[in-house]
Amino acid sequence: MAKRTVSSTFSFQLAPEQIEQAHTALLTWYAQEQRDLPWRTTDDPYAILVSEVMLQQTQVDRVLPKFHQFLTAFPTLADLATASTADVISVWVPLGYNRRAVSLQSIAQQVIAEYEGRIPDTIDALLTLKGIGRYTAGAIACFAYHKQVATVDTNIRRVLHRVFLGLEHPDPKANDAQMLTLAEQVLPVGHAYNWNQALMDMGATVCNSTNPLCGNCPLQQCCAAYTEMSQYSLFPSGVVLRQLRKVAEKKTNYQSQPFTSTNRYFRGRIVDLLRTLPTPQCMALNELGPQIKADFMGSESDQAWLVKIVEGLNRDGLIKITEEGVRLP
Ligand code: ADE
Ligand code: SF4
Repeated sequence: MAKRTVSSTFSFQLAPEQIEQAHTALLTWYAQEQRDLPWRTTDDPYAILVSEVMLQQTQVDRVLPKFHQFLTAFPTLADLATASTADVISVWVPLGYNRRAVSLQSIAQQVIAEYEGRIPDTIDALLTLKGIGRYTAGAIACFAYHKQVATVDTNIRRVLHRVFLGLEHPDPKANDAQMLTLAEQVLPVGHAYNWNQALMDMGATVCNSTNPLCGNCPLQQCCAAYTEMSQYSLFPSGVVLRQLRKVAEKKTNYQSQPFTSTNRYFRGRIVDLLRTLPTPQCMALNELGPQIKADFMGSESDQAWLVKIVEGLNRDGLIKITEEGVRLP
């Protein structure tokens, strides 16, 4: 049996009028304001697979030229499956996260071997492809095959959380599985394609992470976070969010000490620190150590600890190890 990701018992208590209002407001907004993106004018499942893998960690404007170049170099799934991996990587390189290029090619090969070259159209079948997670499976089922399914990426999570559950700081009110349940609960049946694309546009252009443009937002009237924010004296929204985020960070530092000593915490600090460098600048390990861990003295065991963490990050494609040190990919 293929794994199922839908939790059937849990659901959020939401007013039907709020859901309905959000549907009308967002779909109307999208009809007028949607971004003109090339993967929205095709339903070739292969092109959509390529776009979604590219968009996983890379901004839309950097993906645009690469999307065309990649499809010119490998116009069909079979072309990609049979190409040399070195060629695939070399077309991919400026996007970074090269592991994804290798993964994309092995997905193509698995589709040839197991699905007669046709990318599956159900979430369960898509999830049997190694390297495809629930988000990408949902995106392909919806955007290529127009299935009425929900899907949750970073932007969709943020927008749905704010509108239906309220502000995500200092404590998010739902975990990943619950967010997917919420997304399924509010999906306007018959409009899944436009709804999912609209949520992405909303998250990218209006309801962004640190400075949401609530003043220009079509969802203002039905947004729980907006109602919450308007109760703070610090309104507007950007200021409120930054305050709440600070509270959340303090909690992490003082209340859950064990968390700060786990590698996951330091992995995050390293990537955050490297993000502040002008790319593609590199940072040496002996310079990095003391900046992420106050008691880093550069001893042999300190260094071994740091090397282990950066190697893990490197393996996951989150940073690159170079001769001078480490940098973002
Ligand atoms: N990010 C991931 N998928 C996307 C899409 N289909 N449109 C815009 N941004 C995206
Ligand atoms: Fe996001 Fe503000 Fe719009 Fe709510 S009103 S969806 S917080 S931009």
